[in-house]
Amino acid sequence: MARRCGRATSRFTLYSREIATLAVWLCLCLLLPSAVEAGLYTASDQIVQLTPGNVESVLLNSTAATVVEFYASWCGHCIAFSPVYKSLARDLKEWKPAVDLAAVDCAAEENRKVCISYSIRGYPTLKFFHAYSKAGSTGKPFRDFPRDVRGLRHKIIDQLETHSETWPPACPPLEPTSEAELDSFFETNNVQHLALIFEEAKSYVGRELTLDLLQFENIAVRRVLKTEEGLVTKLGVTEFPSCYLYYPGGNFTRLKVKVEARMFYSYALQRLQGVVRSGKPPPVTTDGLTNSTEDPWRPFNRSRVYMADLESTLHYSLRMEVAAHTIIKGEALIALTKYIAVLAEYFPGRPVVMNLLKSVNSWLQNHIGGEISYDAFKEILDNSAQSPDTALPEGVRWVGCQGSQPHFRRYPCGVWTLFHVLTVQATNAEDSDPQEVLYAMRKYVQSFFGCRLCAEHFENMARESMTDVDTLSAAVFWLWSSHNRVNNRLAGALSEDPNFPKIQWPSPEMCPACHMVKDNGDHQWNKDQALSFLLSYFSSSSILKDYLEDEVQILAKQREKHTSQQLALEAQKHIERKAREALDLMTHPLTSQPTVEEEEEEEEEEGEEPQDEAMADEEEEGGEGAAAADEIGGKTSEPSPWAKPEMEVGRSRRQAHRKPSIVGMRMRDVQEDIVDLDSFVNQHYKAKALQVAASSRVRPRTLQRKVEQESGPVFGLGMELDGGLGMVGLQPMEADLELDVAQQTKRLQKRELTSQNFGEELSRRGRWMSMLNIGFSKVDISLCVILYFMSTMCLLAMYVFFKNRLKLRRVKISLP
Ligand SMILES: Cc1cc2nc3c(=O)[nH]c(=O)nc-3n(C[C@H](O)[C@H](O)[C@H](O)COP(=O)(O)OP(=O)(O)OC[C@H]3O[C@@H](n4cnc5c(N)ncnc54)[C@H](O)[C@@H]3O)c2cc1C
Ligand SMILES: *[C@@H]1O[C@H](CO)[C@@H](O)[C@H](O)[C@H]1NC(C)=O
Ligand SMILES: *[C@@H]1O[C@H](CO)[C@@H](O)[C@H](O)[C@H]1NC(C)=O
Ligand SMILES: *[C@@H]1O[C@H](CO)[C@@H](O)[C@H](O)[C@H]1NC(C)=O
Ligand SMILES: *[C@@H]1O[C@H](CO)[C@@H](O)[C@H](O)[C@H]1NC(C)=O
Repeated sequence: MARRCGRATSRFTLYSREIATLAVWLCLCLLLPSAVEAGLYTASDQIVQLTPGNVESVLLNSTAATVVEFYASWCGHCIAFSPVYKSLARDLKEWKPAVDLAAVDCAAEENRKVCISYSIRGYPTLKFFHAYSKAGSTGKPFRDFPRDVRGLRHKIIDQLETHSETWPPACPPLEPTSEAELDSFFETNNVQHLALIFEEAKSYVGRELTLDLLQFENIAVRRVLKTEEGLVTKLGVTEFPSCYLYYPGGNFTRLKVKVEARMFYSYALQRLQGVVRSGKPPPVTTDGLTNSTEDPWRPFNRSRVYMADLESTLHYSLRMEVAAHTIIKGEALIALTKYIAVLAEYFPGRPVVMNLLKSVNSWLQNHIGGEISYDAFKEILDNSAQSPDTALPEGVRWVGCQGSQPHFRRYPCGVWTLFHVLTVQATNAEDSDPQEVLYAMRKYVQSFFGCRLCAEHFENMARESMTDVDTLSAAVFWLWSSHNRVNNRLAGALSEDPNFPKIQWPSPEMCPACHMVKDNGDHQWNKDQALSFLLSYFSSSSILKDYLEDEVQILAKQREKHTSQQLALEAQKHIERKAREALDLMTHPLTSQPTVEEEEEEEEEEGEEPQDEAMADEEEEGGEGAAAADEIGGKTSEPSPWAKPEMEVGRSRRQAHRKPSIVGMRMRDVQEDIVDLDSFVNQHYKAKALQVAASSRVRPRTLQRKVEQESGPVFGLGMELDGGLGMVGLQPMEADLELDVAQQTKRLQKRELTSQNFGEELSRRGRWMSMLNIGFSKVDISLCVILYFMSTMCLLAMYVFFKNRLKLRRVKISLP
């Protein structure tokens, strides 16, 4: 008997050891992503990070050529080179379909084999992989490569030109064109504009521009050498470089730019009539805009800041985004306190709004204890004490941040604008902390900003350089240039509004003096001019007050809401009392807290509970402002993805301050406004390149390029991607819950919710689903589930392991 027990134990031990090993291994796997992050580049740098898993798919048989940096994260030269490589990636962003940048950290244990297989001995090593590289290809090394963006760019062009048979399909021909070719150009190419760059043979401008515009439709760029005398005399060209637009009839005009340089040409060409980014619908006129959104279109001046946007941003941020946290504590509380403090100090708002911000600020400053509930915060935010002349207008009225579609621009645009305004306002306060506003923004974005990937990218930038900010103007600068980095990254992304393309801001038209060129012809900002432009653009005196809701009206609405809330509260108390009496009669009190899903299920089916009906009635009567009671008895279903299961203490408190259901319902807007798609940009390019590749595997190197591209269903691509990835949120999450088409259409229209027209069509379940969806993709959620599962495994394994060790020891001790 004893022996059998012993054997059983040992088998069990073996088994548990296996589990333990497995779990430890799994835990290690989980730690790996952070090891990858330890490299010199992050996901925000537009550089493909190679790993043993993706190296083959990136480098072999790719439609684009690839430049790879092999580095070691500890090597000083690599660290010194990394900012150059990052700028290069930003500089060559538009070239991605033809040539992409990648990097691999050879110091990371898991990458060792990769680096060995490419025979890397020193760091940093740059290698060029041709398009359609075959297995076994180890790339062409760049020997003694230059350590500046311009030099590297030229080197890459040189390498691109070495492609012989298998030219990267997305890459237009780079060699100079001749008069003979031009004659037949329009016969074989279906483009509206042909830009000719006249230049010296050693100049790279023509080829750079060809690549800069390769993702744009309706335009082709060709270089013409100074030695092409026929054309030079025909067009009367005297300056090199210079750019001419050439048309089918043989007529031509010179492109007018401030400086004859790449960036100015590129900007001007992208804005020519009819030129659109591949895969993007063409910009629509404001006529079409008026009807594409439910909100009436508000005409506005594109080069001005509107107070209506700033107030809408405050409303959205404080009533929607912060509301996702039922209890605010720790980092989030610090973030909120800082944010409100900065707003109270620098927001250039009207007196009513300033009074409100100040009262919220003093409430937060005087608050004692480590946490606050959102409901308590909201009492102050909604001025429940009814202090005179104090209010934050409800609802959003986007003006300068209107988008051509409901899912474009709006809130994130407002967030940028708000913080630009705040950094500029702070420069008026002489002795304040230069990093104060930026710190508040960083913390806010980190804790609350619904677009989690955006927050991650922003945090990467902040970590990199925010701490270097040492003056108030440097803070203005930092935010401006960080915003431009984001614009660069997002240009062409699906989240870009075709009517408001992402540019390096301000454009040469807006601020000609801000732009200049270096001696080598590269673009450079004139920092002094840019600073004075920013200071005046975002100054409080130039903020327009159009479309603002009238103060008297705001205050009246607030009073009304307050009164109806009071009434609802009374009714609520009455019902609760009754409910409690009914509960007392029941024999089994609620013992365990139901899990979130259970709650949802129950709420769906619990029509039979009498209280529920009473509540529903009240909800209808209460109208918008009513503190509609959507929770019953002891159950609370605060729909926050971040919220932990409620504690007993919080519960009774929250019953008293019931959260108006309007808050929960409007949360769905978060998902709509913020479309983080830039992680899919690469895939988008790939798809495009492949599509082109399919139409012509090996491209003849002539002028005929655009014709073939023309045939693809270019327009549909973006839309298909949207639908396929479910990113844009045209389909609300709850769409899969057996809804008929009509309802769905209605819902789509309803996406344009303002404070007034939230509605009965939002089922409770739908609300919860959209809650779950705030800033979380499905991937995020499944990652959470996996993480949760794995930590459980770890704990289990540890438990089993130690238990068995104890047992073993006990067995050993008991044996002589
Ligand atoms: C912190 C933060 C991080 C984000 N990260 C991502 C992300 O990773 N991925 C993603 O898809 N989206 C991200 N977004 C959203 C994205 O940046 C845009 O806000 C959104 O796509 C709306 O774009 P928009 O056309 O309204 O212009 P926005 O970029 O929102 O700019 C708003 C307005 O500010 C002005 N402006 C533009 N550039 C500058 C500048 N450099 N300096 C001063 N003013 C300027 C212009 O008038 C412009 O219309 C982020 C937003 C924020 C606030
Ligand atoms: C390379 O890709 C093409 C399609 O792009 C495919 O037809 C071919 O089989 C691939 N070759 C290899 C070796 O994978
Ligand atoms: C070029 O000439 C044609 C007629 O020959 C004319 O219709 C067209 O508008 C001209 N284009 C430009 C840009 O001048
Ligand atoms: C927009 O709608 C109005 C009516 O609401 C209509 O008169 C107008 O023609 C529409 N415009 C477009 C471009 O469809
Ligand atoms: C828009 O604002 C700019 C800057 O103040 C001004 O120069 C321009 O005339 C305005 N445009 C319109 C149409 O009002």
